[in-house]
Amino acid sequence: MLTLKNSPAREEQAKIYATLDKYVATFERMFDEGGERIKSLYLWSESPGNGKTTTATALLNEWIIANYLGSLKHGRQALQTPAVFLDTNSFQTDYNLATMTNSEAEMAKIKATIQRTQTAPFAVLDDIGVRSASEAFRSYVHAIVNYRTTNGLPTIFTSNLPIEEMAVVFDARLYDRMRDQCGILKFEGKSKRGIRK
Ligand SMILES: Nc1ncnc2c1ncn2[C@@H]1O[C@H](COP(=O)(O)OP(=O)(O)O)[C@@H](O)[C@H]1O
Ligand SMILES: [Mg+2]
Repeated sequence: MLTLKNSPAREEQAKIYATLDKYVATFERMFDEGGERIKSLYLWSESPGNGKTTTATALLNEWIIANYLGSLKHGRQALQTPAVFLDTNSFQTDYNLATMTNSEAEMAKIKATIQRTQTAPFAVLDDIGVRSASEAFRSYVHAIVNYRTTNGLPTIFTSNLPIEEMAVVFDARLYDRMRDQCGILKFEGKSKRGIRK
């Protein structure tokens, strides 16, 4: 299982990972109701292949582990769906196919994905705002981000755009909400895609 410790990006992104080690330690707050909020994170870089998705996946796994171990410790049932990973690009492809084929069953699946991603205690929204999206699709992603930020649910965003661009991709109000309680981490370095360790 990919974690922060064994992540292939850890060495090159050492500074970011030192911050993330501290961030993951705040996950135990998921068990104190009314406690301090768990922050969201915006992981970005202009160039691809330097470990954003890898890191977001490692964080998601850390959340699942923290939920499981913490549930045991507090004598609670671990959650069925503690976290959701949404690949925005493939979600957009699914959405396009569903509308193109006018399939009610496929649209129902899209709706279910939206609701699941809105309400999950923790979510990764991978490659947000990367592809030019139709107005309709964008409004769905807007609905997801809006729900999560309004309800203070921690979210890891990855993007190839600076966060300021979210004011254009979505709108100024949602951008403000995204920035609230959100750490911004910029990834540097060349693409490692296709390199096997
Ligand atoms: N710093 C790194 N050192 C070694 N391999 C890396 C590093 N960053 C990413 N990789 C590898 O490169 C590939 C692309 O990484 P990915 O996380 O998908 O990049 P991004 O989401 O930033 O485009 C993956 O196979 C990942 O394991
Ligand atoms: Mg990626």
